[in-house]
Amino acid sequence: MTAPVSIPVTGADLILRNARIVDGTGAPAQFGDVAIADDRIVACGDLASTRAGREIDLAGHVLAPGFIDVHTHDDRALLVDPLMTCKVSQGVTTVVTGNCGVSLAPFAPRRRPPAPIDLICEEPAGFFADFGAYLDALDRDPPATNAVAQVGHASLRAGHMDDLDRPATGAEIKAMRAALEAALEVGAAGFSTGLFYPPAQAAPTEEVIELARALCAYGAFHSTHMRDEADHVTDSLAETFRIGREAQVPVVISHHKCAGRHNHGRSAETLPLIDRAREEQPIALDAYPYVAGSTMLASGRAMAATRIIVTWSRPRPDVAGRDLDDIAREMGVSWDEAIAALSPAGGIFFIMDEDDVRRILAYPQTMIGSDGLPHDEHPHPRLWGTFPRVLGHYVREVGLFSLEEAVRKMTALSAARFGLRDRGVIRPGAYADLVAFDPDTIADAATFEDPKRPATGIDLVMVNGRIVWQDGAHTGARPGRALRRQELARPDFAAAHA
Ligand code: ZN
Ligand code: CU
Repeated sequence: MTAPVSIPVTGADLILRNARIVDGTGAPAQFGDVAIADDRIVACGDLASTRAGREIDLAGHVLAPGFIDVHTHDDRALLVDPLMTCKVSQGVTTVVTGNCGVSLAPFAPRRRPPAPIDLICEEPAGFFADFGAYLDALDRDPPATNAVAQVGHASLRAGHMDDLDRPATGAEIKAMRAALEAALEVGAAGFSTGLFYPPAQAAPTEEVIELARALCAYGAFHSTHMRDEADHVTDSLAETFRIGREAQVPVVISHHKCAGRHNHGRSAETLPLIDRAREEQPIALDAYPYVAGSTMLASGRAMAATRIIVTWSRPRPDVAGRDLDDIAREMGVSWDEAIAALSPAGGIFFIMDEDDVRRILAYPQTMIGSDGLPHDEHPHPRLWGTFPRVLGHYVREVGLFSLEEAVRKMTALSAARFGLRDRGVIRPGAYADLVAFDPDTIADAATFEDPKRPATGIDLVMVNGRIVWQDGAHTGARPGRALRRQELARPDFAAAHA
């Protein structure tokens, strides 16, 4: 990466000087400069003899590829809150949407969609019947970050079935598959399931395999919020591996966890199973750095949780941010009765063990994904804090892994898995998606009590060569692009980095 002698580069618009360059591949950091022309990096190394119209001195702080948030529910946030401050303030420059079976397209609901689809949008008019129209809307009014979009299985089911509590018929599978193929044709990059959730619980493995078979010809990937992340987590892994094998597609296991007190410690069992499966087939996974999850309130998660915080409630908006236990006591009812009274609603569930979180984060294949819920009134702090929390808490304070390794899990590893061509790395020719931060002060500020606080220690964030965040403030720039499958490389589930 570092040029041995300083060769002048012409045509640079901007030079970032005195950076500790962490290039995303996991290689040791190197001091140097990075020159940018238009939307690309044109040189890195010692650029003492190069000049540009604009130069920024990074004073020895880290310069890394922009972070890739591989697990988001930002489908509608990209349109209604295109500054994407919760993400760019963390250094995120690309988001993958449409996770957990939930996507804004292709779907044309006639009434309020069933939970958990309502987590991204409650209004029928907010959805897009045509996947291409969704991507076109992003082109017309671009967000600050890039986006890669998936089709959600629950959205397909809700659009093609009159009753979600049964397996799809052959004709329904055919119609859903045609809709999935039409979306892949115009740029969808993958297909997600949320077999844990009511709209898909009745879907047998075979239904998913039939749909996932569509992905193979397009070089697209499958991601899954597995049927069970608690007592039957190993059965769910087996189901996930079977879907990947029979449909011949790469599979991303979303937000891997072992939920519920009596499953604590079982990542010691699940990660070797993933290792073994990876010898036979392409499998990837992501995780967020917290012991609590967050989703719809009436999800069965309550059983396994030691504490629940209400994130929103349609009939009782006043209780957002409060503990379910306090609310239930006030009402003089059980947790279950309180949940029924508050629904539709969302919650934060304390269900994981710190040792599992650390073991999963440290596993070399694990990418970082926030799973943030951008429309919640009192969101899980992962929405604003995931990436700085890994770099501040888990790298600097805990020493779980090196800074270079952490950055790899947020950049080059993710770019390889999702086929993000020329992203996730710092090298000449790559897109200038970049984040500069102070490794000594970077920290998540969002907490369970006060969840919407931007991280500290982020100096500068750039997307496609334009600065979106500088010195603690959004610049207002929205240079993000909707990355269609056609411009992506084939998912690479073998590479350690791009
Ligand atoms: Zn999920
Ligand atoms: Cu999710």
